[in-house]
Amino acid sequence: MEKQKLKFPEGFLWGAATSAYQVEGGNTNNWSEWGEKNAERLAEEAKFCWQDWQQKKFPEMFDPQNYISGRACDHYNLYEKDFDIARELGHNTHRFSIEWSRIEPEEGKFNDEEIEHYRKVIRAIKARGMEPFVTLWHWTNPVWLEKKGGCESRDFPKYFSRYSEYVAQKLGQEVKFWITLNEPTSVIASSYITGMWPPQKRSLLAGWKLYKKFARAHIEAYKHIHAADPDSQVGFANILHSFEPYRRKWFLDELMVRIGKYITNRRMLNLTKGYNDFLTVQYYFHNRFKFPRKIRTDGLPVSDMNWEIFPHGIYRIIHKLKEHNLPIYITENGLADADDSRRENFIKEHLKEIHEAIKDGADIRGYFHWSLLDNFEWDKGFWPRFGLVEIDYKTMERKIRSSALEYAKICKSNEIDD
Ligand code: FCB
Repeated sequence: MEKQKLKFPEGFLWGAATSAYQVEGGNTNNWSEWGEKNAERLAEEAKFCWQDWQQKKFPEMFDPQNYISGRACDHYNLYEKDFDIARELGHNTHRFSIEWSRIEPEEGKFNDEEIEHYRKVIRAIKARGMEPFVTLWHWTNPVWLEKKGGCESRDFPKYFSRYSEYVAQKLGQEVKFWITLNEPTSVIASSYITGMWPPQKRSLLAGWKLYKKFARAHIEAYKHIHAADPDSQVGFANILHSFEPYRRKWFLDELMVRIGKYITNRRMLNLTKGYNDFLTVQYYFHNRFKFPRKIRTDGLPVSDMNWEIFPHGIYRIIHKLKEHNLPIYITENGLADADDSRRENFIKEHLKEIHEAIKDGADIRGYFHWSLLDNFEWDKGFWPRFGLVEIDYKTMERKIRSSALEYAKICKSNEIDD
């Protein structure tokens, strides 16, 4: 039987995403300082965090150096080479972030040379026929801001507003698509509630208060970007989990699902209503609740980080977003898969769900795989391998994974086999 082709809408954007701190190298910010202080502890704790198979497969996790971002992928210097690869792989878009600590290394003092660096980055993307999607804040704060309380500072929205105004004035004419904040709710959860990430707070109240700060910061940036160019398109990158009760109609399981959906998927959207030109989906997690905890679903494949792979979750998420009547971009979706045994299938299965959602009326306009390159995965360091392109961190050599070539076929043909 002949294979059926699933066509994507004309002009669909295909690409991959990165973030400054995870790939650039040479950054000094709240995360780099925290990494240096905590490297020994993180290496020590790895044996309690990961299963035997993971510890055996990734012994780097026991090396404190794994937790120090250092040169990362040296993308700050090698970006042209990396964009050549993206173009070769048929990408027609690329998402990256500007590092606030480079632009405003000291409070109120802006560095024009770094603006020029990013202007070159943007032009390098466009010169290769790709549409740039630029993120203003992908989790890292300049050190001066962290000293003032970081995201929790009363003035965080004011500082972010000033920074975004500056960038918008300088680069607003160069870029159409802007993402203000990356996954504010991940930071609320992991930095302020569970206390895993800097500044390692454990306070529900602190977390709760942050929603409004992030929403104000987003709205301010939205206005500045539109003032610089009324035609620009602005949104924020939202992490959206798939939620399910373990037992349907069990009040407590259902209640956990409702709370999860509200605090992760909805609250930021509600608070920024009217200030999003498009919506985004960053999908990694499938959560099933059996009160009072999350439980795993037997039989689902997992990534190297043990995250469950559940492609249908993205369909459900998009289905729900349709009610907003806005264009949707999948700004992140991917997995850690060092031996590249699951990535091709992962991409195809998620894309089939996305295609189904388009057929059912969702206005989805692009897909960005996380990530173009292997990179520095926050508190986990270098061992998780998320890249379409493998990095040899010793030589900085780039090697295209075979899944990347499969994804390239899709990008180039704008369709997948059913
Ligand atoms: C997302 C982050 C991104 C990366 C992936 C794995 O939540 O936005 O930087 O760490 O997870």
